[in-house]
Amino acid sequence: FKVPAVENEPMRSYAPGSAERKSLEAALAQLEKELPLEVPCVVNGKPVKTGKLAKQPMPHEYARHLCTYHEADQATVAAAIDGALAAKGEWEAMPWNDRAAIFLKAADLVSGKYRYKLMAATILGQGKNAWQAEIDAAAELSDFLRFGVKYVEELYSQQPPKNTPGSWNRVEYRALEGFVLAVSPFNFTAIGGNLSAVPALVGNVVVWKPSPAATYSNYIVYQILTEAGVPPGVIQFVPGPPEEVTGQAIANPNFAALHFTGSTFVFKKLWKDIAANLDTYKGYPRIVGETGGKNFHIIHQSAEIKNAVMQTIRGAFEYQGQKCSALSRVYVASSIWNAGFKEQLLAEVAKLKVGSPTDFANFIGPVIGRPAFEKVTSYIKKAKDAGGEILAGGSADDSVGYYVQPTVILTKDPKSVTMAEEIFGPVLTVYVYEDTDFEKTLDLIDTTSPYALTGSIFSQDRKALLQATNRLRNSAGNVYYNEKCTGAVVGQQPFGGARASGTNDKAGSMSIFYRFVSARSIKENF
Ligand code: SER
Repeated sequence: FKVPAVENEPMRSYAPGSAERKSLEAALAQLEKELPLEVPCVVNGKPVKTGKLAKQPMPHEYARHLCTYHEADQATVAAAIDGALAAKGEWEAMPWNDRAAIFLKAADLVSGKYRYKLMAATILGQGKNAWQAEIDAAAELSDFLRFGVKYVEELYSQQPPKNTPGSWNRVEYRALEGFVLAVSPFNFTAIGGNLSAVPALVGNVVVWKPSPAATYSNYIVYQILTEAGVPPGVIQFVPGPPEEVTGQAIANPNFAALHFTGSTFVFKKLWKDIAANLDTYKGYPRIVGETGGKNFHIIHQSAEIKNAVMQTIRGAFEYQGQKCSALSRVYVASSIWNAGFKEQLLAEVAKLKVGSPTDFANFIGPVIGRPAFEKVTSYIKKAKDAGGEILAGGSADDSVGYYVQPTVILTKDPKSVTMAEEIFGPVLTVYVYEDTDFEKTLDLIDTTSPYALTGSIFSQDRKALLQATNRLRNSAGNVYYNEKCTGAVVGQQPFGGARASGTNDKAGSMSIFYRFVSARSIKENF
């Protein structure tokens, strides 16, 4: 059998009066009626209410919370690991076409039956506007699942090209021995689904710890996977205090792999903890992580200004800059800066409406929580203290929700703190370089930050594009020409970066699946 061809999920417009806008509004109203929800851990398909309660506040109105959830305690994590290991044999032995059918069905549930519910949970819980929620919870999540099935089919078909007469060589792609720990972030509902589904697609069992700030939307994803037919125990849903859940999982001798998206700091810590436990494991665990970024645009003197401005606005400010791919430093040729880039950029920033993501007129919503609000505002202050000029924004208001105005800082110091460190908020720092210093500026881009996730080059000159691409060879895992540095599409731009940004195993491509299988060669003589 062959898996049918897959397509990217088409985006809907949410134009005023459209059917999809009405459906989403109805889903939001319905969710509001049900608040606050209660979310259990789920182990072996059964809800576990530990009574250790935590809250997921709504970032646009933090006095109210979306859900109360039960944090996994030690006994729950232990039961989750044991149950996963017990479910492993049958799951791994299930014929591939049945596993494929389960995830194809899950994709249809995401893009169909649960589309608006999942989007509403992402809007209220994670502060995304409708279009950002659509890209994430509807489109990217169903793409991850559908294309995932296609990639696994392709992986399984990778076989040795040569057989000698009288024999047949084949390779079997076994699941890893043990369980996979998936640790997912708040900023994409889709990533929660992907981090748990990727290992499960190739027959692994998964203990999934979602981000506390995305508990409810990730719980819906978990329920969808279950409704689609993922058997009890194969994916265990264990929200909880990060250090406790991950610490316990990593200390277990059957720990086989980490599938992580989050901060560089936490990833490095987990890696060190894994290394410290190495002697307790059966094998060498696979460590797969996607972490931070300090992503750039370079606007060459040959760039088309209007496009560069619009892409810069979208790259920096969509979802309040809380994407690991978000743009946060721009290097603009002085001739372009003075020929309209500056005025157009500031005019466009002034148009961005800030406010509750439940109002479709707002482009910018809240940042995710109190620590994020404090971090982002402290960077604005640091930039000012270091002599940066605030060209737009700069203010913030946390009286009801965690709102930070879209902020543009002009710096004369290309190595200043907001040009170098990840902020994860709606703050863009601009450095204007002399047109003749293009090469020097490429050096600056490469050496200013430890990250290497995404970057864009704006130019109408093929020679400049090539020069930048060559000099920035190791500065980004995703490079764009004349387009913003965010918004990689599953099946189109495999996503990930190296250096401090991660292991660059490329989400949304076949490469990631290799990390969660252990191949076995079989030679048979006839
Ligand atoms: N894949 C997303 C993007 O490219 C970020 O996680 O924007």
